[in-house]
Amino acid sequence: MPLWQFCRGLPKAELHVHLEGCLEPDFLLELARRNEVAVPWETAEQLREAYRFRDLGSFLDLYFAGCQVLCDQRDFYELTTAYLDRAHQDGVAHAELFFGPQTFIERGIPVGVQLEGILDAVADAGARTGISASLLVSAHRHRTDDDAFALLDSVGPWADRIAGFGMGGAEVGNPPEKFVRYFAELRRQGFKTCVHAGEEGPADYVRQAVELLGVDRVDHGITILDDEDLVREVAAAGTPLTVCPISNVRLRTVPSLSEHPLPRMLAAGLNVSLHSDDPAYFGSGLADTYTATAEGVGLDRGTLTELARNSVRASFLPHASRQALLSRIDAVAPADC
Ligand code: ADE
Ligand code: ZN
Repeated sequence: MPLWQFCRGLPKAELHVHLEGCLEPDFLLELARRNEVAVPWETAEQLREAYRFRDLGSFLDLYFAGCQVLCDQRDFYELTTAYLDRAHQDGVAHAELFFGPQTFIERGIPVGVQLEGILDAVADAGARTGISASLLVSAHRHRTDDDAFALLDSVGPWADRIAGFGMGGAEVGNPPEKFVRYFAELRRQGFKTCVHAGEEGPADYVRQAVELLGVDRVDHGITILDDEDLVREVAAAGTPLTVCPISNVRLRTVPSLSEHPLPRMLAAGLNVSLHSDDPAYFGSGLADTYTATAEGVGLDRGTLTELARNSVRASFLPHASRQALLSRIDAVAPADC
């Protein structure tokens, strides 16, 4: 069986994908027309030309510009539906979807319009294809912790339909320690938490994420390798790191896939899994991410199977659902894996 087919057929959990990063160029332009939002691109080709990023900051500029075309409940519904259908084709059995309401709240779009659109799509996609998905509300670290508290308040009515809380945005200069109070409150309220750390920021940001914020997962975390003591601590604790190799190359935090630190992370015993981050902007869904990473860094099918198992174990699903998914992986795993 070709590698791409193996990667697609492997049941996987997608734990690090931003819904806003799933806005494909054609759909972005369709929404711009439908909602009469002026955008500087006329064709999908022009838009793709703009997808040459220097760094995280240049990517975030375009990502937030793209968000301008999302306006009403139908838009959020269709965005989520299109992603979940593609993910299902990619062999994603379960997806935890980051979504950042602050972008839209500041434009006056009620949080209920956003979340109801997404949650309706999750329910309908589950009924149609069997894919399971849940929502991770993501705060922006370049805003204040008061803003994060206001976000937490505003999503309160949907709390029982939120699987956890995360945080993304411009990393350098906005360390995890800025949000100690916010994450303490999330934990006090019993929510699962994760935070982007160690993508562009230093290993110390990963240390702050685990020691000061006490998160359940770290998103990216690749710069942890600069701190050997921290690597040993995080490996011993088994804290999951959701690694996005294609994103790292496209945002130039890593020069090429063959130089990606994933093999060193695996060798150090870190609990890593593979994810796509912003598939529309980086041109790679989860199956392609597995395939390209396997080819780029040199992973065999047994290791890919173990990475898929890690993704399921690191998910915020209940124990029984995780076990059921692990059995599905066992059913397609190569002999002796
Ligand atoms: N939001 C969407 N993608 C992101 C990334 N790679 N890092 C930080 N915030 C993000
Ligand atoms: Zn991310």
